[in-house]
Order: sequence, then structure tokens, then C-alpha cells
Amino acid sequence: MPAVSIEKAKAVISDFVLVDQGTSIDELTLGSEKYVKFVNEFWTAKQRQANSIHEISYRACYKPQLPRFFIDIFTKEGDVVYDPFAGRGTTLIEAALLHRNIVSNDVNPLSRLLVEPRLNIPTIDEIERRLDSINIGQSKTDIDLSMFFHKDTEAEIVSLKGQLTDSFIDNWIRMVATNRLTGHSAGFFSGYTLPPNQAASQKSQKVINERLGIVPPYKNTKEIILKKSKSLQRNLNSKIMEQLEAIGQNAIFSDKDSRDTDHIQDSSINLTVTSPPFLNIVRYADDNWLRCWFNDIEVSEVEKKISLCRNVATWSDMMESVFDELHRVTVPGGWVAFEVGEVNNGKVKLDEYVVPLGIESGFTCAGVMVNSQDFTKTSNIWGVDNMKTGTNTNRIVLFNKSK
Ligand SMILES: C[S@@+](CC[C@H](N)C(=O)[O-])C[C@H]1O[C@@H](n2cnc3c(N)ncnc32)[C@H](O)[C@@H]1O
Repeated sequence: MPAVSIEKAKAVISDFVLVDQGTSIDELTLGSEKYVKFVNEFWTAKQRQANSIHEISYRACYKPQLPRFFIDIFTKEGDVVYDPFAGRGTTLIEAALLHRNIVSNDVNPLSRLLVEPRLNIPTIDEIERRLDSINIGQSKTDIDLSMFFHKDTEAEIVSLKGQLTDSFIDNWIRMVATNRLTGHSAGFFSGYTLPPNQAASQKSQKVINERLGIVPPYKNTKEIILKKSKSLQRNLNSKIMEQLEAIGQNAIFSDKDSRDTDHIQDSSINLTVTSPPFLNIVRYADDNWLRCWFNDIEVSEVEKKISLCRNVATWSDMMESVFDELHRVTVPGGWVAFEVGEVNNGKVKLDEYVVPLGIESGFTCAGVMVNSQDFTKTSNIWGVDNMKTGTNTNRIVLFNKSK
């Protein structure tokens, strides 16, 4: 199936987006085929605020406005939205807020621990009562965490880790605690360290402490968990919480390689919105080692499964199989919005590799949509903190499965 013609692409995209209001339309030639690139500030301008329930950090996550844009235009209530590289679950949480059903997959089991509790949400009273019932022992742990935590904070963390069960209240507390482990403000359990989604190693944390002349101060974990819980829930009400719970009950979660998702039925997904790992820029397993420790996830096992592709050729090989799976699971007439960035300061434009991959799997490419932002604004809008390593332009390749 070839790419659609420029006129057809314009017609398809302009059914949903006001392409004539300041949208620049460029042609992109790949091999003998022409594709269309639409550039505008599509989904970050004049949008309503994202719901506070999204506000947990994750490496290379996107802002909720991005999936919302595509969910709004390509699906209706009750449809099924999928993310094969779910991360913190931005696509899935936004879909659930918009009454869509969800299918979530990420090879790192941490992803499910971050997503599922936000679909079955305890009240602040329930959280407070449960936290009061945790016995704080003088617990030390199997690894040296003294460079991150005051000894009394560490005892609280270890007690939480040891006593949390898998009730929905405990799962919420575990999710919030996971997010509060390390960071560089008063709202984290640690002393001053890297941003929360990038745990420093024990060795580099010692260097940070020495350089800044600090020792980790005592932090009250219960207060921090309650405060963050209130903040996450501040835009919710009982009706939204019931809605999220109902969506959660029907949700499918998995931690498979996204090339191998035979648990997802053929032709069952209306829309996929996703961003894959970009070559080896972000080390998801390393960045999450402390979060994995807290959740008894074996980092070395996860590391083996996470796709770290050194070059575009191996990345493309992997994505070829991902697209075959996406084509199989997408309903006829369904859509895939595949977010990629620029790598090596724009020298490698992954969208140009993605277009033929999707087409080979049987999709039609409706175009590439670039949400234009200046550099500084982009870094805020996208919540991406890896600008220095070269991912600064985000673009969506849009595919359609024919009816
Ligand atoms: C760019 S992040 C996704 C971020 C997500 N869009 C969000 O907003 O949180 C890519 C994710 O792909 C996951 N991943 C890496 N290799 C994978 C694979 N082979 N199969 C499934 N997930 C994988 C990583 O664990 C990481 O969470």
C-alpha cells in the first residue's frame, strides 16, 4: 500500500485539523514516494490543562495533550486505545479520562505499577489510615542507601517496602512512594539529587553529596505521600474516580516485548498512540534502578529485555516487527500515531525511517505531523529532559489501516 497522495493527505488531515490556519505543508520524498509533513502548534496551544492525575515523572514521557489530540479526533467513547510502550501511561490515563477502554504494554513491569493504581484510586482518608498502620522498624536494607536517605527515612522506606501488600490502597501508596524516592526538592524522600526520573548511582550520589557538602536530611515519608496523593487527586471527583475504576476493570496490562503481543486480539484496537525507545539515548533500566529496587523488580532482567538499539538499522529491524503487530491488532479503519524524535542533533530523522516501515506492514501513511515549538518551550511542553542528548523535535507519523 503506497503513501497517500498529497491532496488525499491534506483532505484526511483537514477533516480533523484546521490545516489552513497557519499550517505549513511540506513534501517529503523518501525513495520514489512523496509524503506530506504538516507543521503547526497543533496540540499545545490553547489547550485546557492536563488532569493532575498525570503528574508523575518518567524518562522521555510526553504531555497528555499529545495523546488527547489524537484520541479526540480518531476515537469515540467505548473505543479501545493502546500503547505498546506505555511508560508512565500518559496515553492510557488520558484515554481513560476520555471514557475510552485501554490496552497497556511495557516491557518494564514498573510501568504497570505506575499506571494501574491511578485507575483504582483510594480516598485520602483510606491512604492516611493505612499509612498510620505501618510499623516503622529500625530496618536497614540489603544495599547501602545512606548516600540518598537519612537513616530514619530509610527505616520508613524499608518498612513500607516490606509491609505493603497488593490491595488497591497499598498499590496507590507504592506508586506514590516510588515517585517520591529521589528528586531535588523538599517533596522527595532523598536529599538533593538528580531529577526524580533519573536515579543517580550510589557512587555518583556520593560525589554529588561531597561536592555540595550535604548529608541527606530526615524526610517524613508519610507526610510526603499524603501531600503528593492530594496533589495527584486535586482535579478528580467521585464520578471521575468511578469512571477510571470501570475502565481499569476492563483494561489489559502486559509487560511483553511489543513485538510479541499475541495476547492482544486481531483487529481489536481503534487507536494506538505511542512513543518507542529512541535508539540508546535514554537508559530506562538504569534510570529506574532505585524504583525497581523498591518494587522488587530485578533491573538486570529488565535491562536484558529493554530495546537499546545502537544504530538506526537495528532500531528499524525492531520497529518493523512492532509495526507488523500493530497492523494485526488494529481494526480496519483504525489509526496509529507513532511519535518519534530527531536523533544526533537532527542528523537522523526517525520519521523518515518509520514511514516505510508502517507502509510495509500494510498501513497507509496519512502524513507526518510536527508540533512546532521553539526549543525552550518544547522542553517544557513535552516534559522531556534529555534535550542535550539530541531529542528535541517531536513528530508524529500517522498511519491508517484500510477498511
Ligand atoms: C519513550 S518511553 C514511553 C513514554 C510514554 N509515552 C510516557 O508518556 O510515559 C519508551 C518505553 O518503552 C519501553 N520499552 C523499551 N523497549 C521495549 C520493548 N521491546 N517492548 C515494550 N516496551 C519497551 C521502556 O521501558 C519505556 O517505558
